[in-house]
Amino acid sequence: MDVPFVDLKRQYAPLLPEIKGTMDSIIERCAFINGPEVREFEQKMAKWLGVPWVCGVSNGTHALYLTLKALGIGKGDEVITVANTAFPTSEAINSSGADVVFVDISQDYFSIDPEAVRSAVTARTRAVIPVHLYGIPAEMEAITEIAEKHDLLIVEDVAQAMGARYKGKKVGTIGVAGCFSFFPSKNLGAFGDGGAVASADKELARRVRMLSNHGREEKYTHLLLGTNSRLDTLKAGQLSICLDHLDEWNQERRQAAALYEELLGPFEEIRTPAVPEGCEAVWHLYVIRYEKRDDLAAFLRQKGIRTGLHYPLPLHKQPAYADLGLKEGSLPRAEKACREVLSLPMFPKITPAEIETVAKGIGEFLSHQGKA
Ligand SMILES: Cc1ncc(COP(=O)(O)O)c(C=O)c1O
Repeated sequence: MDVPFVDLKRQYAPLLPEIKGTMDSIIERCAFINGPEVREFEQKMAKWLGVPWVCGVSNGTHALYLTLKALGIGKGDEVITVANTAFPTSEAINSSGADVVFVDISQDYFSIDPEAVRSAVTARTRAVIPVHLYGIPAEMEAITEIAEKHDLLIVEDVAQAMGARYKGKKVGTIGVAGCFSFFPSKNLGAFGDGGAVASADKELARRVRMLSNHGREEKYTHLLLGTNSRLDTLKAGQLSICLDHLDEWNQERRQAAALYEELLGPFEEIRTPAVPEGCEAVWHLYVIRYEKRDDLAAFLRQKGIRTGLHYPLPLHKQPAYADLGLKEGSLPRAEKACREVLSLPMFPKITPAEIETVAKGIGEFLSHQGKA
């Protein structure tokens, strides 16, 4: 049996008539920019998250960038983030004009090491961006304690974790702002690019909204130098419909992760992902660690099982960051993780039979290894 890495068609098929109906209505009204569906979606998402303000933007990268700009972070400032994340996390920091300070991941989890954050703080540090990578909450209690002590702002990168909970609280509602991505394969995906910023700070939300719309609140008066980063009405209409299904999709992801855990648990060579105590993950990705992951991936591929790498290179080793001069060995945990991680098929409608096929494939590979 072939197992895809992600299957969006399967997920969206039952919703298409409703989504197309909404899109038709928007097209008939030609309400493409700032149509009523945008505000409706923002309000619905705010209620779902339990925050007063949500501002839709054009993608998750801009959610981060506009938040940093709205906080007044820029040239001369430093922002700390983790080396094992998607490139846009740090790219957004650079776009704001601030300097990126990469730190290592923690011993037990894939997310930022709170102790490394503490050691990286300087007089120029303004903010820290924890990333709830793979849908697993970062260690927010320790990060919050350090942030409070050093007067740092916490901007959460929630691109991969919409709906995950840290000790009862939805991630994205703990820091000063939560930055979401609606890239199609994310837990809540748009039919194209999309993103949002959530915050309890009214003025911050107002500034993000202004910056995303050429720095204005009224048509011809530009109060700030912003950009064009609005969420389209067509996507907002679609996202509103899909948001009603997010809890159910996240639950399906949790069931899939539990089955992986059960089936892969007995394989000593494989390290399955850990979740901090008291937290609930939403498994944007299900990522195992294994020393010979390239061989394993090739074996699975040959059997029709697709896997992914998130990520093969820590950001401090990306060519774009060569000028930071961070050599191999400078962030050893992130570097080792990048050599060992393998993302297994994970999406809401994945079947138990597909997960069993993946686990069986892994078992076969390991038994061949035993004989080698
Ligand atoms: C952790 C993380 N941060 C930020 C982003 C950027 O989101 P987008 O692709 O919507 O710009 C992504 C998605 O690629 C991501 O996975």
